[in-house]
Amino acid sequence: MKTFFHVQDIGDLGAALAEAKQVKATPFAWKALGENKTIMLVFFNSSIRTRLSSQKAALNLGMNPIVLNIGQDSWKLETELGVVMDGDKSEHLREAIPVIGSYCDLIGVRSFAGLQDRAFDYAETILRQFIDYSGKPVISLESATVHPCQAFADLITIEEYKTCKRPKVVMTWAPHPRALPQAVPNSFAEWMNAADVDFVITHPKGYELDPKFVGPARVEYDQMKALEGADFVYAKNWSCPGVSCPADYGKILSKDMGWVVDEAHMAVTHDAFFMHCLPVRRNMIVSDAVIDSPRSIVIPEAANRVVSAQVVMKRMLESL
Ligand code: CP
Repeated sequence: MKTFFHVQDIGDLGAALAEAKQVKATPFAWKALGENKTIMLVFFNSSIRTRLSSQKAALNLGMNPIVLNIGQDSWKLETELGVVMDGDKSEHLREAIPVIGSYCDLIGVRSFAGLQDRAFDYAETILRQFIDYSGKPVISLESATVHPCQAFADLITIEEYKTCKRPKVVMTWAPHPRALPQAVPNSFAEWMNAADVDFVITHPKGYELDPKFVGPARVEYDQMKALEGADFVYAKNWSCPGVSCPADYGKILSKDMGWVVDEAHMAVTHDAFFMHCLPVRRNMIVSDAVIDSPRSIVIPEAANRVVSAQVVMKRMLESL
């Protein structure tokens, strides 16, 4: 595996889930695979889970992880070509990426959407430069439009907790005070469409995700109707994807607190498990009562981030 962006990169999902189970049961069985290998984890944005789970996964595989926080413990980097660099950016990605690539065997990159220019974000302009200029396998650790390590961990978690062959999984938009990217809902939709689940997306009008991620999923604008009979409720906020109105890209169109997932919402489900990628704003996205309930699986979901990252890194090491 040379890149990890999309569900197709992992190949057969059944095989990937079986491998995840094996990795979770015996995390140190491949320690020799990463001997004398280095992974560079490049962060343009903040993180707890992605940073720590990626480091832990690398250590489990015997690799040396190095974390680089761009703009904090590095020079500020220019990302756009053709600009006069007379501002606060001291170095261009065009030089920084091949230099980083020369010091490591694998690269993971966190680089959020700017939410200003849809074309720039949806072309994955920054991640593409890492692929083009590093010469090394590249993992998206949440880039402008996708968060595949999260979606893979989500699928592993659903597989562990499901009590029927084809569970109903509902991804619901929920309000948030700040404009957030669409990477998590995009990837979750992409992975659920590829999995054997009954997948429904619910959000207020105007929040339609890019059709390439929605795929064959059912979209239901009535949140309560969507949640009826759900086995898993996956809550997430996202800003306007700008599909029907490009001028609204990255904007907050609604802060309707009626969409906060509370006990009344969970009551219409099939005693659903509650999921969220974290970090989560309590009583904005989900009520205290729901996230603190025994049906909340947000912590095991986060723990599975080590497993998903380890499967991806293992496969990349095997194909070096
Ligand atoms: N879910 C997730 O990616 O968390 P962090 O932003 O803390 O890495």
